[in-house]
Amino acid sequence: MVTNDKVISLNTRQPFHPGLREQPVRSMKRHAARIISITSGKGGVGKTNIVANLGYQLSRDGKRVLILDADLGLGNLDILLGLAPRYNLSHVLLGEKRISEIIVEGPGQLRILPASSGIQELTHLSRDQKMSMLYELDQLLDTVDILLIDSAAGISANVLDFSVSAQEIMVVVTPEPTSITDAYALMKVLSTKYAEKTCRLIVNQVASEQEGREIFRQLNLVAQKFLAIRMEYFGCIAQDENLIRCVKQQRILSQAHPDSAATHGFRNLARRIKALPAIHAPQGDSQLFWGHIFADGVVSSKS
Ligand SMILES: Nc1ncnc2c1ncn2[C@@H]1O[C@H](COP(=O)(O)OP(=O)(O)O)[C@@H](O)[C@H]1O
Ligand SMILES: [Mg+2]
Repeated sequence: MVTNDKVISLNTRQPFHPGLREQPVRSMKRHAARIISITSGKGGVGKTNIVANLGYQLSRDGKRVLILDADLGLGNLDILLGLAPRYNLSHVLLGEKRISEIIVEGPGQLRILPASSGIQELTHLSRDQKMSMLYELDQLLDTVDILLIDSAAGISANVLDFSVSAQEIMVVVTPEPTSITDAYALMKVLSTKYAEKTCRLIVNQVASEQEGREIFRQLNLVAQKFLAIRMEYFGCIAQDENLIRCVKQQRILSQAHPDSAATHGFRNLARRIKALPAIHAPQGDSQLFWGHIFADGVVSSKS
């Protein structure tokens, strides 16, 4: 097993599993998974809790949900859910495990791809490494209805390259001014460097629905004026003491407190996700790549 202090030295030119890229392109139409990245400018705004609770709600509703912990160097989704996975994405990156071999099951039949914590090398993967990981991930999507990506915070390429592989980017913000300015900075980079045209806003830790809508209104005003990215309000989650308690107990709020204020918010978000327009599967063999871009200038096919 890889320990946290083990130095990862990866050959940036090699895919993890040679031959992966040479696999033939499938001609048949594929089952389409919905791929949603939950991201933020500022850290600690509630992304991991949102992903875990949304995933739980959606899987309770019968959806096959897979969560990718893409906070690669500081992943903590497994801790939040009280899991102790033996293997994680660092083993995939080292070529020791296939991505399908590191999946662990969480509450409510959630499936999770755990990240590692404390391996700094994972926070600056090469483009090839990211492509290979996404390629392997793509092979799993035939058995997934919804892939949720729990992103790291920030505007670095390491973070955003994962986010922009998703069909939907949801930006999490809290009422704190620093979180709002960081959300704006994130949207600016998404728009100018990645040519993203839309993103959805989730306002967490609000005192009321009205506060959530007001924060959206303010951010949207500035974005409309200065950025070529369209924002949509996706919903809000209440500030909830039960959630803080659940984090300490490593329990999932939606399961432990089905009637808590934040649980209602998560349920609403899950409902909205299910109501999003249907996904049309690309003809090729990659769902993660067809609209994919990286910061070095490959043009996006998203519109
Ligand atoms: N809706 C909420 N109500 C109360 N506290 C919250 C809420 N959402 C997040 N928090 C607090 O914020 C902390 C960080 O949340 P987390 O999901 O780990 O953020 P991130 O993944 O963005 O770093 C939680 O441990 C919890 O204390
Ligand atoms: Mg997190």
